[in-house]
Amino acid sequence: MQRIAKPFRAFQPLLQRTIKPSFSPRSFAVSTPTLTSSTKTRTMASAAITTPGGSDAFLAAIKDRRSIYTLNKDLGSITTARVQEIVKEALLHVPSSFNSQSNRLLVLFGAEHDKFWDITCEILRAIVPEAKFGPTAERMAGFKAGAGTILFFEDWTVVEGMEKKFATYADRFAGWAGHSDAMLQFALWTALEAEGLGANLQHYNPLVDAKVAEEWKIPASWKLQAQLVFGGKTAGAGEKEFGPLEEKLKVFGA
Ligand SMILES: Cc1cc2nc3c(=O)[nH]c(=O)nc-3n(C[C@H](O)[C@H](O)[C@H](O)COP(=O)(O)O)c2cc1C
Repeated sequence: MQRIAKPFRAFQPLLQRTIKPSFSPRSFAVSTPTLTSSTKTRTMASAAITTPGGSDAFLAAIKDRRSIYTLNKDLGSITTARVQEIVKEALLHVPSSFNSQSNRLLVLFGAEHDKFWDITCEILRAIVPEAKFGPTAERMAGFKAGAGTILFFEDWTVVEGMEKKFATYADRFAGWAGHSDAMLQFALWTALEAEGLGANLQHYNPLVDAKVAEEWKIPASWKLQAQLVFGGKTAGAGEKEFGPLEEKLKVFGA
């Protein structure tokens, strides 16, 4: 193992991660792993987009991702198998702190998706005053009209394991799990949009947590964080305003 100078010992875990060779010319020869494997998957960098300007398509996909609330059950030529393939790729490759892999997903299609929104609707009916329930019911019907829902969880067994293993950063792991989860949410939202589907992000947790755990046998350590509803688009997104970039960005030394 490479020796690390004393002043940097507190950061040893981070340094060890950084100095591991993560790239070699052989990387280009390695193809996408088999996603059906139940054993550990190892990958090396692929050369899908490695030319100058290669990020243009990626940036266009980022720009095209919007919140689409007018969804139907028609996925067109996109099969549920293709959606699962996208989900697996994103789940596998989205990074996590120390490669801790705290993200967990539940993907619901068709009748299972409908069931989730029926459950959510009933839970809300019990707490929203009847006179005001109309708009809530409409919103629920809008989500149910979609084709599927991806539920995002963070596995607290992993987070607590990391807290114990790397005490120096113990107070950081919960936040970092959130960062990784958010990256996964964004990756899937953007990927589904890039396939021509529409999606929107919802947060009916923690209201629905117990029912979801019971219905889909979710381990107690999985904490629900968000729901991504997707389907065929029946309309585009509305106008979006942007504040001035100058107030949000500082650049030096360019
Ligand atoms: C962290 C986060 C939480 C969000 N939560 C919700 C939500 O609970 N319900 C909802 O309808 N939209 C939610 N949104 C969608 C935002 O309102 C939306 O992304 C934003 O207005 C920009 O619009 P766009 O997605 O069309 O670019 C959320 C977005 C983010 C990034």
